[in-house]
Amino acid sequence: MATAHTGPVVPPSNDRAPRQLEDLAVLGGRPAFVQPRHVGRPNIGDRAQLHARIEGALERGWLANDGPLIAEFEDRVCDLVAAEHCVAVSSATVGLQLVARALDLTGEIVMPSFTFIGTAHAFTWLGLTPVFVDIDPATHNVDPAAVEAAITKSTSAIVGVHVWGRWCDVDALEAIADRHGVPLILDAAHALATTDRGRLVGAGGRAEVFSFHATKVAGAGEGGAITTDDGELAHRLRRMKNFGFAGYDRVVSGGTNAKMPEFSAALGLTSLDALDEFVALNLRNHDRYAHGLAGLPGVRLVEFEPGERHNWQYVVAEIDEPGLRDALVTVLHGERVLARRYFAPGCHLMEPYGREGAVRLPATEAVADRVLVLPTGTSISEDDIDTICAIIRLAVEHHEHLLDRLAP
Ligand SMILES: Cc1ncc(COP(=O)(O)O)c(C=O)c1O
Repeated sequence: MATAHTGPVVPPSNDRAPRQLEDLAVLGGRPAFVQPRHVGRPNIGDRAQLHARIEGALERGWLANDGPLIAEFEDRVCDLVAAEHCVAVSSATVGLQLVARALDLTGEIVMPSFTFIGTAHAFTWLGLTPVFVDIDPATHNVDPAAVEAAITKSTSAIVGVHVWGRWCDVDALEAIADRHGVPLILDAAHALATTDRGRLVGAGGRAEVFSFHATKVAGAGEGGAITTDDGELAHRLRRMKNFGFAGYDRVVSGGTNAKMPEFSAALGLTSLDALDEFVALNLRNHDRYAHGLAGLPGVRLVEFEPGERHNWQYVVAEIDEPGLRDALVTVLHGERVLARRYFAPGCHLMEPYGREGAVRLPATEAVADRVLVLPTGTSISEDDIDTICAIIRLAVEHHEHLLDRLAP
């Protein structure tokens, strides 16, 4: 749920912060940052430990095909997500595809449009047809009633996405999936080490798929993890990620190469070692933004349910004034703050899906027009956040003038 922040307004304590509109780089001033500030940069952890793991893999001469680092990585993920089985893969996108193949999906997949395009592309690439449905604008997660309304005879699965790491309504989606006899798959790319009503994510639906991309709270460079309580499914996924091999040279099914290499597992394990630290830093960053943007009209930070465990890997602002979100992106990029407009305009309006008279999804489109994702993670300092907040504050407080100045 997005809530307004109240509380004292902090004056910018930073020299780099622009003080008047003319100081903004887009209006001829000097950019606030020399080096770009990204929404997500790799959270590495203890480099000595990383080097030791890589050295170990080199010594063993075992760099791929389920080495000891992969086994350790899978065990660690299982503990973190409270699922019985974890299958490490080369990305979340490929993980979603493996699940689709392992479940023999055909025809249509009902899924939210408000997600990273990779969720949709994963299925389309296999010849499946995504049927996009709307979200609840309060949570940014898929609306179960819209899912049920979109189910047809051709539906072969429902896909839920835990957007920003907030659980989608898994109970409702599971009930719909059961009623219609189709599997539920969960894209948990954002949701590592989070809870829903006290339960760790990872064992919902038939399978959940986490991303360990370099920009995620814990990263493996590239990587993904499929988690499930279904041992038979895990077994099939393991074979399919390795060309369908069941033994040394026996092939029993179709498959692909979706294996995570040992070096990625080394990165993944090292970042998991420091996960608590990363989450604490993300929370500190979130609170700093909340403080810095407090009281700013029409600007709300997305907040998460109190009492739940959260990874705070995204700082998401919603900007109410039409056109102002895009102006803020222009202004921030000018200052070398690479804020993002996730997932605008919504998958249903993006190529190739929007080509032939796309459906209209009012909540998705409205949220996609409002969302501004801000830099966080270990590479962002409190000082950086003060500067970014000062830029946003200046732009929002003078938005009428700013929009005039930026008009083509
Ligand atoms: C919601 C969502 N799903 C899937 C993906 C794809 O993950 P990967 O890059 O590991 O393939 C991402 C990546 O950011 C994502 O945000």
